[in-house]
Amino acid sequence: MPRQFVPAHPAGRPRARALRLLLLGLLGATLPVQAASPPAGTGHEGMVVSADTAATQAGVATLRAGGNAIDAAAACALALAVTLPYAGNLGGGGMLLYRDPDGQTHALDFRDAAPRRLRPGMFLDEDGRPLHHRALRGGLAVAVPGTVAGLFEAQRRWGRLEWRRLVEPAIRLAERGKPVSAWMAGVYAGGEHLLDDPGARAIFAPEGRLPLEGDVVRQTDLAATLRRIGAEGAKGFYEGPTAEAIVRTIEARGGIMDGEDLARYRPVSRDPVVGRYRGHRVVSFPPPSSGGLILLQMLAMLEHFELEPTEPLSSRTVHLLAEVERRAYADRSRWLGDPDFFDVPARGLLDPLYIDARVATIRPKRASRSERLLPGRPPGVESDETTHLSVADRWGGAVTLTTTLNGAFGCGMVAEGTGVLLNNQIDDFSLAPGMPNQWGLLGGEANAVAGGKRPLSSMTPTIVDAPDGGRPLLVLGSPGGSKIITSVLQVLVHVIDHEMPLQQAVDFPRFHHQWYPDVIRYERLALPADVRSALAKLGHELEQTGGDLGNVNAIGTDARGRWLGAADPRRHGSALGY
Ligand code: DON
Repeated sequence: MPRQFVPAHPAGRPRARALRLLLLGLLGATLPVQAASPPAGTGHEGMVVSADTAATQAGVATLRAGGNAIDAAAACALALAVTLPYAGNLGGGGMLLYRDPDGQTHALDFRDAAPRRLRPGMFLDEDGRPLHHRALRGGLAVAVPGTVAGLFEAQRRWGRLEWRRLVEPAIRLAERGKPVSAWMAGVYAGGEHLLDDPGARAIFAPEGRLPLEGDVVRQTDLAATLRRIGAEGAKGFYEGPTAEAIVRTIEARGGIMDGEDLARYRPVSRDPVVGRYRGHRVVSFPPPSSGGLILLQMLAMLEHFELEPTEPLSSRTVHLLAEVERRAYADRSRWLGDPDFFDVPARGLLDPLYIDARVATIRPKRASRSERLLPGRPPGVESDETTHLSVADRWGGAVTLTTTLNGAFGCGMVAEGTGVLLNNQIDDFSLAPGMPNQWGLLGGEANAVAGGKRPLSSMTPTIVDAPDGGRPLLVLGSPGGSKIITSVLQVLVHVIDHEMPLQQAVDFPRFHHQWYPDVIRYERLALPADVRSALAKLGHELEQTGGDLGNVNAIGTDARGRWLGAADPRRHGSALGY
């Protein structure tokens, strides 16, 4: 039996919900929020929540036109490829979870894949030292993009409308362009690497400088690429002029992706991972994302403790979550990778006895040291910058979709004449044991580079089913690299344990531990001085982040069964229902 702080009641606690809501209501005025957000969107029929208003509108227009959640997610994602060039993408990949109106959940993996001829030695110098920059910039950094194949396949399988129609809003947005917002101007300011690439410079800096607020960015090459995709489907991207331009551009920058890599790319249907948390069924994304398994592992550990509804940021709560996060991310570094290349011990990682053993090492009054906390040994093993959108439709269907170029604007290269920014997903591999990637994540053999392999992801598109099988309790996900999984964890815990309304749960300041570096990072308003000093006394290192932790775009339902949408104010998203 593991040591526990307070025995938990996994299937819901006996205290009166009304009293807790009252307490929360009283506390509401004093609880910190990260930024002011507009009221959550509501809608009887449907809901779209994405990181950009024009893309959200493209999704809602698709629902109104009779499309389902899949059609709207495709239209929204294609629009994001235009309006959010740093993250929305055709040149990257993603992971989509679809709950159909019968309550069945399907996972479609369109994660970018390493070119067939990629080898680990290409990222090492003559003395075997890792060359990190090669995984981030230049032709070797680019993995075979999966987004177009994935959206096309999802829509072919589950959509209702004609594919061509779904591409139209994106084409219009690319042709007309729209004035750059103050916030987007800030994002462009961080995209200096775009200036190093002639193709990117021609689109984003025709006058030699990156866009400022009010400038209109038109993407006519991208519009032409989208037209080919609209007319020919995935073939319009993976074969013909777009594919040829991608290969030419990558070859000219020292890469080795060829036409066959593109022509052979296929999305893969996977079985979602399923767990339970305090009586709720949680469905999330399986490897090659680490997100779902690590989320379920953290929830399984947390179930050993009771979390107080009124204490979302007490030192006890933060300590507990940080310890749970530390353990799960240690396992991530050792046991997770592309399941087509590495035998991921998925069952063992969630085995109740294994979880008990990991929980038993958590001390209530002392932080563990990551250098002494090694990845565990789950049973069954042999010894030895991104964006997220959520959509719900009138039939009870729901899509949770994360897409990524990896770093902001990917590697900064545009495939000649196509308007397509290329990813730098190769950095999600572990180039060498002990060498952190750009998210500070460590890895080993499970996630080593290999031709054709998909780099381990943290994307965590997740659905929490309602107990009665009706409209889901939560549909959510986030960007944020390594912080994705802990952002999803906290919103889920805020809704289930801290009984927060959806928008408050999304807005609420967050913190994060990922095993290494051995530090709790926290947003500016997350930890008041007394909580920080209590955590320091327990032995935790603390560090305030300059930026944000995650950007959760979520959908839930209210007591009347309406859809509720909550966009994360951290990145100016929007929720629109109808
Ligand atoms: O798949 C992953 O885990 C990363 N490529 C995600 C990167 C990301 O979230 C960037 N967003 N801020």
